Amino acid sequence: MNDQSTENIANGAITLAAIGDLHISEASERRYRDMFAEISEVADVVALCGDLTNFGKTHEAEMLAEDLRACTIPIVGVLGNHDYECGQPEKVAEILHQAGMTVLDEQAAVVEGVGFAGVKGFIGGFGRGELGAFGEEAIKVFVDESINEARKLENALRTLRTDRAVAVLHYSPVEDTVEGEPKEIYPFLGSSRLADAVDRFDNVKAVVHGHAHTGAFRGRTPRGVPVYNCAQFVVEREEGRPYTLLEI
Ligand SMILES: [Fe+2]
Ligand SMILES: [Fe+2]
Repeated sequence: MNDQSTENIANGAITLAAIGDLHISEASERRYRDMFAEISEVADVVALCGDLTNFGKTHEAEMLAEDLRACTIPIVGVLGNHDYECGQPEKVAEILHQAGMTVLDEQAAVVEGVGFAGVKGFIGGFGRGELGAFGEEAIKVFVDESINEARKLENALRTLRTDRAVAVLHYSPVEDTVEGEPKEIYPFLGSSRLADAVDRFDNVKAVVHGHAHTGAFRGRTPRGVPVYNCAQFVVEREEGRPYTLLEI
């Protein structure tokens, strides 16, 4: 047990490690094994924020599953858009589930007294720029997907009775953490509807997400819940290592 864990037991907090956008490709063998061993020494639980594989290939998921075996603490996570590319996200999720990851989607989880609810999320834009369900059928289908992901997140959060909860997403719920990306693509980096879902609850202490590789690390929902962009490239720039550690 490390010093941080001893201190946390005293104040009831847990240390959450969060990382997104591993983008495991077929050339990534054992790339994250040492990192997961290291995380297991310094954190109580790890959250994976999607884009775990590069194309959602079976072999990529199996390679990540191998690396996850080095992880000795609970793993929760969501898939990202890249994990959908081969059209078999269920297969990717099942392989990662077999390797010990609790795949959050509709189903929330409680780890050491802290609730975790998560969805991939979807795009659609932020604030006044949010796309509305109006006009062509194709736009309504698109917006429905965004609404549906936010509804799943809200439902999962509602099932949690813990006094502390964390929302795990792939897409961003706020504009703050996509700043640094080209302005033209902001609407494709996340959706305010996810923040609206988070803000309906008083027990959410943090939101972690990925996807915006050149975004900003820190932000807040309109009601002030801290949001962290844990895409590994963002965290690396901020902290000099690919994962962040949060006290929850
Ligand atoms: Fe990514
Ligand atoms: Fe992504």
